Amino acid sequence: MTIIAVFNQKGGVGKTTTTLNMAAALARRGTEPLSIDLDPQAHLSAIANASAATGQDSILGFYKELKSLSELVHETPMGAHIIPSHFELSKVDSLFGKGPKVVNRLKVGIQEEMLEQDGMPILIDCCPMLGVLSLNAIFASTKVLVRISTDYLALKGATQLERTLKALEHVIKKRVARRYVITRFDARRKLSWELLAQLRERFGDELCETRIAENVSLTESPAYNRDIFTHAPHSQGAKDYEFLVEELISHGFI
Ligand SMILES: Nc1ncnc2c1ncn2[C@@H]1O[C@H](COP(=O)(O)OP(=O)(O)O)[C@@H](O)[C@H]1O
Ligand SMILES: [Mg+2]
Repeated sequence: MTIIAVFNQKGGVGKTTTTLNMAAALARRGTEPLSIDLDPQAHLSAIANASAATGQDSILGFYKELKSLSELVHETPMGAHIIPSHFELSKVDSLFGKGPKVVNRLKVGIQEEMLEQDGMPILIDCCPMLGVLSLNAIFASTKVLVRISTDYLALKGATQLERTLKALEHVIKKRVARRYVITRFDARRKLSWELLAQLRERFGDELCETRIAENVSLTESPAYNRDIFTHAPHSQGAKDYEFLVEELISHGFI
């Protein structure tokens, strides 16, 4: 079973955009993925028209042991399934602490309930904070997809990320398979190419060949509650996400 955490400890780097459009690309291939919104900002749930009415109807209901994961799954018009989030999810740390039971909760839930749906990829949209929710995502996932932007802070961010992942791996005692994806790439800027060369050197084969370009249709599509393939099927954004999923499948990552 492929469980991918879409991760970066920074906000605004395109995690939600990636989860949304990768799920849509997979659904178009007939795989029916499940997305889990693990960010209290609940942007993915809102874009997918699957907002939870109360905290209990969101993944928080699972943490409170009121609902099973399967009971929380919504169908979306985009063809992907989603378990929504809710702003009350931000209380998880204060409600349940940081013990081993709570940090492994999602992993155990998926193992108990969803293992028989073997071919179904699961994508987890992570929140930017490094608390219990991010730990849940990393512990539950079999793979991590890290978003990297090509701004001037890219290398600094990448160093922090490697450090974070190392610290987490020290706890779970294994190296999590990962791919780094460059997002919001602006080919007109010289700096983008310089940073690309440095990131290639640093991450080698773990850096995806596909880069997601800066694309206005990707900025617009959430406002219309659409994935990029419905909103602008011929845009560069649609092509990039199609290529990304193709690449990840051909390398056995999905
Ligand atoms: N490749 C892109 N080109 C243009 N805008 C993008 C791109 N990727 C994301 N965005 C926009 O950037 C903003 C932040 O992206 P988002 O996916 O919400 O980031 P995160 O989930 O990491 O906080 C959103 O408004 C989104 O529409
Ligand atoms: Mg987000």
